[in-house]
Amino acid sequence: MQITGTTALVTGASRGIGRALVAALLDAGAARIYATARRPADVAIPADAAGRVVVLPLDVTDAAAAAAAAQQAGDVRLLINNAGVLDFGGALDMPADLLARNFAGNFFGPLNVTRAFAPVIEANGGGAVVNLLTIVALASMPGLAGYNASKAAAWSMTQSLRAALAPKNIAVHAVFPGPVDTDMAAAITFPKTSPADVAAAIVRGVAEGSEDIFPDPMSAQVYEGWRQDHKAVERQFAAA
Ligand SMILES: NC(=O)c1ccc[n+]([C@@H]2O[C@H](COP(=O)([O-])OP(=O)(O)OC[C@H]3O[C@@H](n4cnc5c(N)ncnc54)[C@H](OP(=O)(O)O)[C@@H]3O)[C@@H](O)[C@H]2O)c1
Repeated sequence: MQITGTTALVTGASRGIGRALVAALLDAGAARIYATARRPADVAIPADAAGRVVVLPLDVTDAAAAAAAAQQAGDVRLLINNAGVLDFGGALDMPADLLARNFAGNFFGPLNVTRAFAPVIEANGGGAVVNLLTIVALASMPGLAGYNASKAAAWSMTQSLRAALAPKNIAVHAVFPGPVDTDMAAAITFPKTSPADVAAAIVRGVAEGSEDIFPDPMSAQVYEGWRQDHKAVERQFAAA
Protein backbone atom coordinates (compact mmCIF):
# COMPACT_ATOMS: atom_id res chain seq x y z
CA MET A 1 0.00 0.00 0.00
CA GLN A 2 1.07 3.60 -0.42
CA ILE A 3 2.49 5.03 2.83
CA THR A 4 2.66 8.63 1.64
CA GLY A 5 -0.45 10.45 2.82
CA THR A 6 -1.88 7.53 4.77
CA THR A 7 -3.00 7.34 8.41
CA ALA A 8 -1.32 4.68 10.55
CA LEU A 9 -1.63 3.42 14.11
CA VAL A 10 1.27 1.82 15.97
CA THR A 11 0.82 -0.12 19.22
CA GLY A 12 3.59 -0.12 21.82
CA ALA A 13 5.02 3.17 20.55
CA SER A 14 6.67 4.11 23.86
CA ARG A 15 10.04 2.52 23.03
CA GLY A 16 11.98 0.04 20.92
CA ILE A 17 10.74 -0.92 17.46
CA GLY A 18 7.40 0.86 18.02
CA ARG A 19 9.07 4.21 18.58
CA ALA A 20 11.27 3.60 15.51
CA LEU A 21 8.20 2.72 13.44
CA VAL A 22 6.65 6.11 14.20
CA ALA A 23 9.84 7.79 12.94
CA ALA A 24 10.00 5.53 9.84
CA LEU A 25 6.37 6.29 8.97
CA LEU A 26 7.07 10.01 9.31
CA ASP A 27 10.09 9.61 7.00
CA ALA A 28 7.94 7.70 4.49
CA GLY A 29 5.40 10.54 4.34
CA ALA A 30 2.48 9.25 6.43
CA ALA A 31 -0.01 12.07 6.96
CA ARG A 32 -0.99 11.07 10.50
CA ILE A 33 0.30 8.49 12.96
CA TYR A 34 -1.51 7.44 16.11
CA ALA A 35 1.29 6.51 18.49
CA THR A 36 -0.40 4.39 21.15
CA ALA A 37 0.94 3.20 24.49
CA ARG A 38 -0.20 1.91 27.87
CA ARG A 39 1.05 5.18 29.36
CA PRO A 40 0.74 8.01 26.82
CA ALA A 41 3.26 10.11 28.80
CA ASP A 42 5.94 7.59 27.77
CA VAL A 43 5.60 8.48 24.07
CA ALA A 44 8.20 10.96 22.82
CA ILE A 45 6.88 12.85 19.80
CA PRO A 46 9.69 13.47 17.26
CA ALA A 47 10.60 17.17 17.06
CA ASP A 48 9.96 17.31 13.29
CA ALA A 49 6.51 15.66 13.49
CA ALA A 50 4.69 18.97 12.88
CA GLY A 51 1.34 17.84 14.31
CA ARG A 52 1.35 14.55 12.42
CA VAL A 53 1.67 12.38 15.57
CA VAL A 54 -1.35 11.87 17.84
CA VAL A 55 -0.79 10.01 21.12
CA LEU A 56 -3.55 7.70 22.38
CA PRO A 57 -3.76 5.38 25.40
CA LEU A 58 -4.03 1.71 24.46
CA ASP A 59 -3.31 -1.44 26.44
CA VAL A 60 -3.71 -4.07 23.74
CA THR A 61 -4.85 -6.72 26.23
CA ASP A 62 -7.99 -4.65 26.91
CA ALA A 63 -10.55 -5.27 24.13
CA ALA A 64 -12.75 -2.40 25.36
CA ALA A 65 -9.78 -0.02 25.15
CA ALA A 66 -9.11 -1.21 21.58
CA ALA A 67 -12.74 -0.48 20.68
CA ALA A 68 -12.45 2.99 22.26
CA ALA A 69 -9.27 3.69 20.28
CA ALA A 70 -11.08 2.69 17.07
CA GLN A 71 -13.75 5.29 17.88
CA GLN A 72 -11.08 7.96 18.31
CA ALA A 73 -8.96 7.00 15.30
CA GLY A 74 -11.58 6.56 12.60
CA ASP A 75 -9.24 7.49 9.74
CA VAL A 76 -6.76 4.62 10.16
CA ARG A 77 -5.77 2.61 7.07
CA LEU A 78 -2.58 0.98 8.34
CA LEU A 79 -2.53 -0.85 11.69
CA ILE A 80 0.83 -2.00 13.04
CA ASN A 81 0.49 -4.52 15.87
CA ASN A 82 3.92 -3.99 17.38
CA ALA A 83 3.34 -4.23 21.17
CA GLY A 84 4.65 -7.43 22.67
CA VAL A 85 6.22 -9.02 25.74
CA LEU A 86 8.92 -11.64 26.27
CA ASP A 87 9.45 -13.75 29.37
CA PHE A 88 12.15 -16.38 29.70
CA GLY A 89 11.19 -19.90 30.75
CA GLY A 90 11.13 -23.51 29.60
CA ALA A 91 8.20 -25.70 28.62
CA LEU A 92 8.32 -27.71 31.85
CA ASP A 93 8.91 -24.97 34.38
CA MET A 94 7.58 -21.64 33.07
CA PRO A 95 5.00 -20.38 35.59
CA ALA A 96 1.43 -20.34 34.30
CA ASP A 97 1.04 -16.61 34.91
CA LEU A 98 4.02 -15.85 32.65
CA LEU A 99 2.71 -18.18 29.94
CA ALA A 100 -0.62 -16.36 30.16
CA ARG A 101 1.13 -12.95 30.04
CA ASN A 102 2.90 -13.91 26.80
CA PHE A 103 -0.32 -15.12 25.19
CA ALA A 104 -2.21 -12.03 26.40
CA GLY A 105 0.38 -9.62 24.99
CA ASN A 106 1.45 -11.44 21.84
CA PHE A 107 -1.64 -13.37 20.69
CA PHE A 108 -4.86 -11.97 22.19
CA GLY A 109 -3.59 -8.37 22.17
CA PRO A 110 -3.00 -8.05 18.42
CA LEU A 111 -6.22 -9.96 17.78
CA ASN A 112 -8.19 -7.52 19.97
CA VAL A 113 -6.79 -4.53 18.13
CA THR A 114 -7.26 -6.09 14.68
CA ARG A 115 -10.89 -6.93 15.44
CA ALA A 116 -11.48 -3.34 16.57
CA PHE A 117 -9.78 -1.73 13.56
CA ALA A 118 -10.73 -4.03 10.66
CA PRO A 119 -14.13 -2.30 10.21
CA VAL A 120 -12.40 1.11 10.38
CA ILE A 121 -9.86 0.19 7.69
CA GLU A 122 -12.56 -1.38 5.53
CA ALA A 123 -14.75 1.74 5.84
CA ASN A 124 -11.78 3.84 4.70
CA GLY A 125 -11.44 1.83 1.49
CA GLY A 126 -8.98 -0.82 2.65
CA GLY A 127 -5.37 -0.85 3.73
CA ALA A 128 -3.14 -3.13 5.77
CA VAL A 129 -2.54 -4.83 9.10
CA VAL A 130 1.03 -5.65 10.12
CA ASN A 131 1.75 -8.21 12.85
CA LEU A 132 5.17 -8.18 14.53
CA LEU A 133 6.05 -11.83 15.04
CA THR A 134 9.61 -13.16 15.41
CA ILE A 135 11.96 -15.58 13.71
CA VAL A 136 11.43 -17.94 16.68
CA ALA A 137 7.82 -18.33 15.52
CA LEU A 138 9.32 -20.58 12.80
CA ALA A 139 11.45 -22.73 15.10
CA SER A 140 11.48 -22.63 18.90
CA MET A 141 14.26 -21.60 21.23
CA PRO A 142 13.49 -23.78 24.27
CA GLY A 143 14.40 -21.10 26.84
CA LEU A 144 11.64 -18.87 25.43
CA ALA A 145 8.93 -21.54 25.41
CA GLY A 146 5.99 -19.24 26.16
CA TYR A 147 7.16 -16.47 23.84
CA ASN A 148 7.77 -18.86 20.91
CA ALA A 149 4.38 -20.48 21.36
CA SER A 150 2.47 -17.21 21.63
CA LYS A 151 4.13 -15.85 18.49
CA ALA A 152 3.63 -19.12 16.57
CA ALA A 153 -0.06 -18.90 17.49
CA ALA A 154 -0.06 -15.29 16.32
CA TRP A 155 1.48 -16.41 13.02
CA SER A 156 -1.31 -18.94 12.57
CA MET A 157 -3.90 -16.25 13.37
CA THR A 158 -2.15 -13.91 10.93
CA GLN A 159 -2.79 -16.42 8.14
CA SER A 160 -6.45 -16.79 9.14
CA LEU A 161 -6.83 -13.00 9.23
CA ARG A 162 -5.17 -12.74 5.81
CA ALA A 163 -7.90 -14.91 4.32
CA ALA A 164 -10.69 -13.20 6.29
CA LEU A 165 -9.60 -9.66 5.45
CA ALA A 166 -8.60 -10.08 1.78
CA PRO A 167 -12.22 -9.64 0.59
CA LYS A 168 -12.33 -6.37 2.54
CA ASN A 169 -9.28 -5.07 0.64
CA ILE A 170 -7.06 -5.34 3.74
CA ALA A 171 -3.62 -6.93 3.30
CA VAL A 172 -2.14 -8.71 6.32
CA HIS A 173 1.64 -8.73 6.68
CA ALA A 174 3.72 -10.89 9.01
CA VAL A 175 7.10 -9.61 10.22
CA PHE A 176 9.72 -12.09 11.49
CA PRO A 177 12.62 -10.11 13.02
CA GLY A 178 15.79 -11.65 14.37
CA PRO A 179 17.43 -10.02 17.43
CA VAL A 180 16.86 -6.24 17.55
CA ASP A 181 18.69 -3.86 19.86
CA THR A 182 15.85 -2.93 22.24
CA ASP A 183 14.99 -3.44 25.92
CA MET A 184 13.31 -6.75 25.01
CA ALA A 185 16.55 -8.23 23.72
CA ALA A 186 18.83 -6.69 26.37
CA ALA A 187 19.74 -10.11 27.81
CA ILE A 188 20.26 -11.74 24.39
CA THR A 189 23.88 -11.96 23.24
CA PHE A 190 23.39 -12.56 19.48
CA PRO A 191 24.38 -9.71 17.12
CA LYS A 192 21.46 -7.28 16.94
CA THR A 193 20.05 -5.01 14.25
CA SER A 194 19.07 -1.42 15.13
CA PRO A 195 15.35 -0.69 15.63
CA ALA A 196 15.64 2.10 13.04
CA ASP A 197 16.87 -0.31 10.34
CA VAL A 198 14.18 -2.86 11.22
CA ALA A 199 11.43 -0.23 11.20
CA ALA A 200 12.57 1.12 7.83
CA ALA A 201 12.56 -2.42 6.39
CA ILE A 202 9.03 -3.03 7.72
CA VAL A 203 7.67 0.17 6.18
CA ARG A 204 9.43 -0.65 2.90
CA GLY A 205 8.01 -4.19 2.94
CA VAL A 206 4.47 -2.89 3.45
CA ALA A 207 4.90 -0.32 0.66
CA GLU A 208 6.16 -3.08 -1.66
CA GLY A 209 3.34 -5.46 -0.71
CA SER A 210 5.57 -8.20 0.79
CA GLU A 211 3.26 -10.52 2.75
CA ASP A 212 6.05 -11.96 4.90
CA ILE A 213 8.77 -9.53 5.89
CA PHE A 214 12.24 -10.61 7.10
CA PRO A 215 13.57 -7.20 8.12
CA ASP A 216 17.19 -7.90 9.08
CA PRO A 217 20.12 -9.99 7.78
CA MET A 218 19.78 -12.73 10.41
CA SER A 219 16.06 -13.29 9.84
CA ALA A 220 16.57 -13.40 6.06
CA GLN A 221 19.34 -15.96 6.48
CA VAL A 222 17.37 -18.13 8.92
CA TYR A 223 14.33 -18.04 6.65
CA GLU A 224 16.41 -19.21 3.68
CA GLY A 225 17.79 -22.08 5.79
CA TRP A 226 14.31 -22.93 7.09
CA ARG A 227 12.92 -23.08 3.54
CA GLN A 228 15.61 -25.55 2.59
CA ASP A 229 15.60 -27.71 5.74
CA HIS A 230 13.30 -26.72 8.58
CA LYS A 231 14.43 -29.66 10.74
CA ALA A 232 18.02 -28.39 10.62
CA VAL A 233 16.87 -24.98 11.93
CA GLU A 234 14.79 -26.67 14.64
CA ARG A 235 17.87 -28.62 15.81
CA GLN A 236 20.09 -25.53 15.63
CA PHE A 237 17.66 -23.43 17.72
CA ALA A 238 17.10 -26.28 20.19
CA ALA A 239 20.83 -26.26 20.90
CA ALA A 240 21.11 -22.46 21.22
N1 LIG B 1 13.74 -6.96 20.15
C1 LIG B 1 13.79 -8.10 19.46
O1 LIG B 1 14.85 -8.76 19.39
C2 LIG B 1 12.58 -8.61 18.74
C3 LIG B 1 12.78 -9.68 17.85
C4 LIG B 1 11.66 -10.19 17.18
C5 LIG B 1 10.42 -9.63 17.37
N2 LIG B 1 10.26 -8.59 18.24
C6 LIG B 1 8.91 -8.09 18.41
O2 LIG B 1 8.86 -6.72 18.09
C7 LIG B 1 7.86 -6.06 18.87
C8 LIG B 1 8.47 -4.87 19.57
O3 LIG B 1 9.50 -5.35 20.43
P1 LIG B 1 10.64 -4.42 21.05
O4 LIG B 1 11.91 -5.14 20.84
O5 LIG B 1 10.49 -3.03 20.59
O6 LIG B 1 10.26 -4.57 22.59
P2 LIG B 1 10.38 -3.55 23.82
O7 LIG B 1 11.53 -2.65 23.63
O8 LIG B 1 10.31 -4.40 25.03
O9 LIG B 1 9.03 -2.70 23.68
C9 LIG B 1 7.81 -3.36 23.80
C10 LIG B 1 6.70 -2.36 23.57
O10 LIG B 1 5.46 -3.04 23.67
C11 LIG B 1 4.68 -2.33 24.63
N3 LIG B 1 3.70 -3.19 25.29
C12 LIG B 1 3.91 -4.34 25.96
N4 LIG B 1 2.75 -4.82 26.42
C13 LIG B 1 1.78 -3.95 26.03
C14 LIG B 1 0.39 -3.90 26.18
N5 LIG B 1 -0.29 -4.84 26.87
N6 LIG B 1 -0.30 -2.88 25.61
C15 LIG B 1 0.36 -1.93 24.91
N7 LIG B 1 1.69 -1.90 24.76
C16 LIG B 1 2.39 -2.91 25.31
C17 LIG B 1 5.67 -1.74 25.59
O11 LIG B 1 5.04 -0.71 26.32
P3 LIG B 1 5.49 -0.28 27.81
O12 LIG B 1 6.55 0.76 27.61
O13 LIG B 1 4.23 0.21 28.42
O14 LIG B 1 6.02 -1.52 28.49
C18 LIG B 1 6.71 -1.25 24.61
O15 LIG B 1 6.32 -0.06 23.98
C19 LIG B 1 7.33 -7.13 19.83
O16 LIG B 1 6.13 -7.66 19.33
C20 LIG B 1 8.41 -8.16 19.84
O17 LIG B 1 7.95 -9.45 20.18
C21 LIG B 1 11.32 -8.07 18.91
